[in-house]
Amino acid sequence: MLAPKKNIYVTQPHLPPLEELTPFLEQIWENKVLTNNGPFHRQLEEELCRHLGVKHLSLFANGTLGLVTALQALRIGGEVITTPYSFVATAHSLLWNGIKPVFVDIDPVTFNLDPSKIEAAITPQTSAILPVHCYGTPCDVDAIQQIADNYNLKVIYDAAHAFGVECHCGSILNHGDLSVLSFHATKVFNTFEGGAIISPDLKTKQHIDNLKNFGFVGETTVVAPGINAKMNEFSAVLGLLQLRHIDAALLRRREIDSIYREELADVTGITCPPREVQMVDNYAYFPILVDENYSLNRDELYIKMRGDGVFARRYFYPLISNFPMYRGLASARPDNLINANKASNQIICLPIYPLLENSEQRRVIDLIVSG
Ligand SMILES: Cc1ncc(COP(=O)(O)O)c(C=O)c1O
Repeated sequence: MLAPKKNIYVTQPHLPPLEELTPFLEQIWENKVLTNNGPFHRQLEEELCRHLGVKHLSLFANGTLGLVTALQALRIGGEVITTPYSFVATAHSLLWNGIKPVFVDIDPVTFNLDPSKIEAAITPQTSAILPVHCYGTPCDVDAIQQIADNYNLKVIYDAAHAFGVECHCGSILNHGDLSVLSFHATKVFNTFEGGAIISPDLKTKQHIDNLKNFGFVGETTVVAPGINAKMNEFSAVLGLLQLRHIDAALLRRREIDSIYREELADVTGITCPPREVQMVDNYAYFPILVDENYSLNRDELYIKMRGDGVFARRYFYPLISNFPMYRGLASARPDNLINANKASNQIICLPIYPLLENSEQRRVIDLIVSG
């Protein structure tokens, strides 16, 4: 009798060997410092700055609180231009700050905000742009900065997918006024839950550090209505251990990426969107587009794969602009977001993670090739 097939998910959290964790746990038990800028928290901030090539980084309990706090730190209000093609937390962080999202369409190749469409969406109420480096592909940062400079707008990058990504001039995280990372379990670098804000200068970092600790400065002074968004010591330790293994993990992701590209290149109706050649990639996702020349439509392929135990995901479907709390906005109209709606209806992200076995990847490929 054949063994039942193992389910294959779009990702599997990457974990360091358990035995590496034990000595750190013993130290936490010894220290009795569990949170509030503990020693492992400070060490992870330093090591991440070195690893990522950034100057100032504040750890967070998760990426969403990082986004909410980044908007607070820069006192953003009114309207913010953003992409509908993202995880819902991007736009939710605006609503949590009482800000009106203004959706602008994406570029059909990079899936990122199309800079040529931003200017038309600017009004006297616009205070910032909130783009996403979708799937870790760098936004057109120079064009976006030019627009921001011309109209005196802030730029906060949702860099949740962009851990370790470099563009033409080094770390992508050094662009804009602030960048926000997510270290959620599904991400290339995870701390179970976690996130970070990258600041350009120490003063901004200190302000953000205050905001993530209820607005406290010292023992008795509260300077702002901050929140509790601190990363705990356990997550910080995990981050330190993940850093030991990140290079090997990325190497394996790269192999998987190139096998998909090779094996799917000639499948009619399937496109593997190209990556920019001059970037350092993190291979966080492997999106494919399923068009009308393929034998099945996107949802039929998705259901076929699920039927065979392959749980690919339709990131990002539905579009944020089609969720009930956003669809009433004028900018959410489908005719304003043609590329985003099209991508959302054609996209599937295939399984990619370091422990994906060759035979498992073969199963995924065969399901697609057989149509
Ligand atoms: C683009 C994007 N922004 C924000 C988030 C929110 O991050 P977190 O889950 O760490 O709160 C995520 C993912 O989880 C994401 O994919």
